[in-house]
Amino acid sequence: MERRTLLYGPAVVAVLKVAVTAVTFLLGASMVALWLGKPRWHGRINAVCLALTYATLGGLEVLMRIIQPGIFDFIVSDPVALGRLRLHLAFAVPAAVLFPVLLVTGYRGPRRWHLVLACVFGVVWMGTWLTGILGLPHD
Ligand code: HEM
Repeated sequence: MERRTLLYGPAVVAVLKVAVTAVTFLLGASMVALWLGKPRWHGRINAVCLALTYATLGGLEVLMRIIQPGIFDFIVSDPVALGRLRLHLAFAVPAAVLFPVLLVTGYRGPRRWHLVLACVFGVVWMGTWLTGILGLPHD
């Protein structure tokens, strides 16, 4: 008989919360680097943040589409939790799209675009973090 080890969906959500919080701290550190007049470090730290975020998103896609489809059914089947997930995605999707654009505009310019998009990114990232931490069930 085939035996499969199933991952527990709420535990995956808890791990994702820790991951988003860790990247939020790193983003804060990149702001401190700017404040200290070290834009190179700002760029390097943010490149690491982007790599970590995309690696996590890639892993999440593989997990929920190939390895264990239905892992988040406990959210999708609950109308309240589903509403909270939709709110979370309304911030998380724009944040994921803007992230690489910020890396490119940071290195290549135009500087003005980098600064304007950085403000929008700051809002959508904080929205992602808050709606994830406070809104999504992990127990
Ligand atoms: C969220 C608020 C952010 C602010 C206020 C901000 C601001 C700045 C400023 C003032 C510079 C220096 C630009 C120059 O001297 O021409 C800079 C450079 C840069 N930023 Fe940002 N940034 C932010 C977010 C990000 C993010 C999220 C990324 C990457 C995903 C990023 C990547 C870069 C890179 C790669 C550079 C060039 C560093 C270098 O010269 O080596 N920034 N940023």
